[in-house]
Amino acid sequence: MQHVIETPNIFAPVSTPAFAIRDLSFFVLAITAAIFVIVAGFAVYTLIRFGRRPANPEVEPAQIYGSTQIELAWTIVPLLIVVVLFLVTARYVWGLERRAQPPDALEITVVGNQWWWEIRYPKLGIVTANEIHVPVSDESRPTPTFITIQSVDVAHSFWVPQLAGKMDAIPNKTNRIWIEPQRVGTYVGQCAEYCGLQHALMLLVVVVHPNDEFRAWVASQQIAPAEHEATRSGRELFSSLACVNCHSVRGTPGNGVFGPDLTHLMSRSTLGAGAARNTPENLRAWVKDPSAFKTGALMPAMKLDDAQLDQLVRYLVTLR
Ligand code: CUA
Repeated sequence: MQHVIETPNIFAPVSTPAFAIRDLSFFVLAITAAIFVIVAGFAVYTLIRFGRRPANPEVEPAQIYGSTQIELAWTIVPLLIVVVLFLVTARYVWGLERRAQPPDALEITVVGNQWWWEIRYPKLGIVTANEIHVPVSDESRPTPTFITIQSVDVAHSFWVPQLAGKMDAIPNKTNRIWIEPQRVGTYVGQCAEYCGLQHALMLLVVVVHPNDEFRAWVASQQIAPAEHEATRSGRELFSSLACVNCHSVRGTPGNGVFGPDLTHLMSRSTLGAGAARNTPENLRAWVKDPSAFKTGALMPAMKLDDAQLDQLVRYLVTLR
C-alpha cells in the first residue's frame, strides 16, 4: 500500500473535529489580526504625528493626563471581545464533546508510557504500539473512531493535528476523543505535554486505510506469527532472557506489559516511538543498547554477545 506521510498542520484538516478547530482558528486569527492592525496603526500614527520635530526640537507636544472615555473604551471593548471568543469556543467544544458513540464505531484505547504509546483494540483483540490504523470514513458509510486515552506514569498529551485537537493522557483518569478521517493517508502526531527526557521522541502516526485494506490489516494482526524451525534458537533465547518480563509475543512465554507488544513488531515502521527506522540493522543496535538511539529509554542494554544478538534479531524479524 502506498501512503503519503503528511506534515502535521492544523490548517490542513482531514477529520471532523479538526475541521472545526481550523474554522475556529481562522475566526480567532481574524479578530486578533484586526486588533493588531488597529493598535499598531495608532502607534505608528502617534509616532509620526507627535514625534519631536527637527525644526524646533524644544517644543513639547500637549501633555494630556487621563481620559475617562478612552479608558472606558479600552476596558469594555476588550472585555466584549473576550466574551465573544469564549462563547464561540465553548460552542465548538460543546458540539464536539456531545457526539454520542454510534454502535458500530471503531474503539481504540491509547495508553501513554514514558516514552511510547500502547495502542489497544479491545473488541478486536489487537495490541500494538505507536502506529494507529483506522478505516477512512465516507459520507455513505461513516466510520468514526472513538479513542479512550489513559496514562500509566505521568501526564502525556495525544495530538494528531490533522485529525483532532489535543487530549491529555492523565494517570488514573480516562479521557475520550474521537476522529473521523475523510481522506486516506498517514498522519503524524506527537506527545504534546512535556513528560520527561524523551518527550520529543514520543511520536505516533495514524494510518487511515480504505475499508477493505483496514480489514486486511486487522486480520493480519489477529493471527499469531508463524513459527519457523530456522529461528527456534532465537525464540528460545528470547524466552530465556529478561525480554519476556516487559514484552509480549503471542504464543510464547513472553507476556510482559511494561514495554511494547512485539507480536507484530516488524509491521511497524519505527523503533522507540520514532527514534529509528525499524530495519534489522537498527533493531540489532537497539537491542544491544537502546540509549544509542534514545538516551534514558527505560529498556536496558541487554549485554548480549554478537552471536546472541544475531540469533535474537533473526527471530525478531520473523514477527511480521
Ligand atoms: Cu509523553 Cu511528552
